[in-house]
Amino acid sequence: MICICNIMAKTGFLPTLMFLLLFSTFRVILSAKSPNITPDQSALLALKSHITHDPHNLLATNWSTSTSVCNWIGVTCGSRHHRVTALDLSSMDLTGTIPSQLGNLSFLVSVNISQNSFHGSLPTELIDLHRLKYLNFGNNNFSGEIPSWFGYFPTLQSLYLYDNNFTGVIPSTFGNLSKLETLSMYNNNLKGHLPSEIFDHLSKLQKLNLGGNQISGRIPNNLFNCKELKFLSLYNNLLEGSIPTEIGNLSKLQILYLDHNNLKGSVPSSIFNISSLQQISLVDNNLVAYLSSNMFDYLPRLSYLDLSGCQLSGRIPISLFKCKNLNALYLDYNYLEGTVPLEISNLTSLQYFSIRGNNFSGKIPSVIGNLIFLETLDLSKNNLTGKIPSVIGNSVFLVYLDLSENNLTGHIPSSICNLNSLKHLSLSDNSLDGEISKCIGNMTSLSHLNLDKNNFRGKIPEIFGKGCTLHSFRINHNQVEGSLPRSLGNCKGLKFLDVGNNCLNDIFPDWLGNLDQLQVVILRSNRFFGQVNTSEITASFTRLHVIDISHNNFSGYLPMNFFKNLHAIKEGYEKKDQPEYMLDVLANADWNYAIGLSFTIKGLETEFEKILAIWSIIDFSDNQFTGEIPKTIGELHSLIVLNLSHNCLTGSIPSSLGDLSELEALDLSSNRLHGRIPTELNKLGFLEVLNLSHNHLKGPIPQGKQFDTFTNDSYIGNLDLCGLPLSRGCDNDAETPTKLDRDDDDDEINWKFSILMGYGCGLVLGLSMAYIIFTTGKPWWFIRIFERARQRLTKR
Ligand SMILES: *[C@@H]1O[C@H](CO)[C@@H](O)[C@H](O)[C@H]1NC(C)=O
Ligand SMILES: *[C@@H]1O[C@H](CO)[C@@H](O)[C@H](O)[C@H]1NC(C)=O
Ligand SMILES: *[C@@H]1O[C@H](CO)[C@@H](O)[C@H](O)[C@H]1NC(C)=O
Ligand SMILES: *[C@@H]1O[C@H](CO)[C@@H](O)[C@H](O)[C@H]1NC(C)=O
Ligand SMILES: *[C@@H]1O[C@H](CO)[C@@H](O)[C@H](O)[C@H]1NC(C)=O
Ligand SMILES: *[C@@H]1O[C@H](CO)[C@@H](O)[C@H](O)[C@H]1NC(C)=O
Ligand SMILES: *[C@@H]1O[C@H](CO)[C@@H](O)[C@H](O)[C@H]1NC(C)=O
Ligand SMILES: *[C@@H]1O[C@H](CO)[C@@H](O)[C@H](O)[C@H]1NC(C)=O
Ligand SMILES: *[C@@H]1O[C@H](CO)[C@@H](O)[C@H](O)[C@H]1NC(C)=O
Ligand SMILES: *[C@@H]1O[C@H](CO)[C@@H](O)[C@H](O)[C@H]1NC(C)=O
Ligand SMILES: *[C@@H]1O[C@H](CO)[C@@H](O)[C@H](O)[C@H]1NC(C)=O
Ligand SMILES: *[C@@H]1O[C@H](CO)[C@@H](O)[C@H](O)[C@H]1NC(C)=O
Repeated sequence: MICICNIMAKTGFLPTLMFLLLFSTFRVILSAKSPNITPDQSALLALKSHITHDPHNLLATNWSTSTSVCNWIGVTCGSRHHRVTALDLSSMDLTGTIPSQLGNLSFLVSVNISQNSFHGSLPTELIDLHRLKYLNFGNNNFSGEIPSWFGYFPTLQSLYLYDNNFTGVIPSTFGNLSKLETLSMYNNNLKGHLPSEIFDHLSKLQKLNLGGNQISGRIPNNLFNCKELKFLSLYNNLLEGSIPTEIGNLSKLQILYLDHNNLKGSVPSSIFNISSLQQISLVDNNLVAYLSSNMFDYLPRLSYLDLSGCQLSGRIPISLFKCKNLNALYLDYNYLEGTVPLEISNLTSLQYFSIRGNNFSGKIPSVIGNLIFLETLDLSKNNLTGKIPSVIGNSVFLVYLDLSENNLTGHIPSSICNLNSLKHLSLSDNSLDGEISKCIGNMTSLSHLNLDKNNFRGKIPEIFGKGCTLHSFRINHNQVEGSLPRSLGNCKGLKFLDVGNNCLNDIFPDWLGNLDQLQVVILRSNRFFGQVNTSEITASFTRLHVIDISHNNFSGYLPMNFFKNLHAIKEGYEKKDQPEYMLDVLANADWNYAIGLSFTIKGLETEFEKILAIWSIIDFSDNQFTGEIPKTIGELHSLIVLNLSHNCLTGSIPSSLGDLSELEALDLSSNRLHGRIPTELNKLGFLEVLNLSHNHLKGPIPQGKQFDTFTNDSYIGNLDLCGLPLSRGCDNDAETPTKLDRDDDDDEINWKFSILMGYGCGLVLGLSMAYIIFTTGKPWWFIRIFERARQRLTKR
């Protein structure tokens, strides 16, 4: 020691050493004064050591043994025993597990570790926390079965386990929790029935939230013994049977969410007698609600009502308009009729009003303009006629306006451009006409604009200014002409563009390649012309996964550069490193932007109800493309539909198409393709639709696997094909390669022959109707393709 001291003194480290000495002495004294590390301290240190990530460094220095645990962040001690009574580590972004030692905090009354990333299962030792009144483990990543020993906390008042991954059934021991006021376990993986007997003992229960699980069976009558219930939420489960009339016994009920279950039968009218009710949601069941004129007389506090899909018929009862506090009214998908009642203007607090999918007729009442707090107005899928009232421009807080699928006429009132908060504007499927007003460019929040299926004409004006916020722009099925406005290039977030079925006359908009969010481009059935050339833009179209430029006048070779840059289709969803991205698209209801989109598959224009973010479709059919099919198309691995039919393509079918392992529909019909059908196509294990008809193909049709499912229709108009399903067998000659020399001659003969038969390239043939199996409803292969896509998505 002296030796070291000397060295240190010589080298000038003496002050440091003095400090070290002092410090260690101090520590000895300190630990001598409080000889045992308290059980509380060691329990909390155990917890600290189980925390693997503490991004804000909240515990690292603060939870130090040099101060009493009672000074530690998140820790509260009782004044008498200086024992830990409360632990609040909520919202600290901590990751870790719960150690068994936590059970040693035997004075703990309240523990809140919500909104972190704690994971793993809960140690049984927590059972020793017999003083607990408040336990909040919500919004973490806990797993394992809900421990039955939770039932052994005799004084527990609040139990929050929501937003985790707990499994199993609700333990019957919960019936011991006679002091329980709040039980919140929504968004887990709970299964089994509601254990009816527990509710006989939970006489203090005020709040029960079990939404977002897989709970099945009936709603037990015992539940209605919990007379103190104010909040009852069982949404998004698998509950069945009817809603018991006894629910009316819950005379203190304020919130009732039973939506998204399999409940059936009639909605008991006793519900509408619970005068304390503020929020009712019954949507997405198989319920029937019968309306009576005075049924809302006893609900003065009602603020939220969702009776969508409850088979309501007749008119909206007038008593509803006495519910002055009504803030949200959803009556979608019922059979309501009559005009939109003028009394709607009495609901001065209304922010959300939606009557989509009913039989309302007449005009949109101009009193709508009095509802100045309106944020959502959805009158779509009714039979409303007349003009869009210009008072709509008064509702300056509108965010969502959907008037689609009615019978509205006239121009878009320019007052609509005052709606500066509007994000979603859908006017599709009406009889609106006139030119697109320039003022639409002044709507600085607009994200989805859908003008499909109207009679808009004239040019689409150059209205998309710098900072354009559009994510989707649709004007399919109108009569707009001229060129595609170049100012769309300002909409940097554009994901979805559909200008199909108009009279646009322009070259290929390669400048869209600068919009790197773009996923869907539909130019079908216009007068676009010229070559599809994208060589000048290098990073173009990398996210594009649906491109339909069919029924135009494009010509020249198929664009190799363009295909090369389709990274979204090349790499596909299965290998995608950001699967969340697509789930986000779905979760944000952003995917709704694609409702009603149609494509030609198997000669039939099919309207898709939904298009998933993962669909990959290339449709270049009905143009005048020439030359060969590039081999590199085989690199577009996640392609589901490839349609190059009705062009002037020559050469043979590249064997690389056999690498399109996800392909479900392949249409190369009505071209001048020659040579054999490559046997590699047999690798296409999901192929449901194959059309190679009206080409100059020859030789044996591949046999086995998917090929056994195709009929003659897939091959007709190819005079030299042989083998099943054709009646013409393959003789030895047809299979000998030496005959291949004669391809050219054969082609010429066949080509002439097909002209004679009227199957020339580039012709839009009514004959393709011959392949249509189904003219109404959804064809079977569409359903299979769609279902498969959905399964893949949910598997992830
Ligand atoms: C720990 O945090 C608490 C609460 O923020 C604070 O009062 C205390 O002084 C901190 N202790 C140390 C050693 O940093
Ligand atoms: C528990 O933490 C959450 C999240 O920070 C907070 O909302 C809640 O009020 C806390 N509970 C108590 C009783 O402090
Ligand atoms: C704390 O709990 C653990 C395990 O639950 C136990 O082994 C240990 O003896 C306890 N420690 C103290 C200091 O009480
Ligand atoms: C939850 O746990 C799972 C696996 O157990 C993990 O994949 C996921 O990232 C975790 N989530 C959070 C938010 O910690
Ligand atoms: C939830 O648990 C299930 C099964 O226990 C598991 O498959 C799933 O990945 C877990 N989810 C998360 C988010 O941890
Ligand atoms: C808790 O409930 C179970 C079954 O419901 C019962 O067997 C047990 O005795 C009860 N325990 C306590 C401590 O009340
Ligand atoms: C519950 O309601 C039913 C009818 O709705 C009534 O007959 C019964 O007396 C009520 N039960 C209690 C305990 O209030
Ligand atoms: C609802 O209350 C009214 C008035 O108190 C009463 O006449 C009616 O019978 C009650 N309906 C039900 C179903 O309880
Ligand atoms: C609507 O308000 C008007 C004027 O304030 C009032 O006369 C009428 O009775 C109200 N209608 C309903 C159904 O409350
Ligand atoms: C739509 O309303 C008009 C009258 O406004 C009526 O003639 C027509 O039959 C209704 N159409 C449907 C489909 O209900
Ligand atoms: C739309 O309105 C026109 C004229 O008002 C009418 O002839 C037509 O039947 C209506 N269409 C529907 C579907 O109601
Ligand atoms: C757009 O708004 C500006 C100012 O806010 C106004 O001067 C201009 O006239 C508007 N444009 C149209 C076409 O309404």
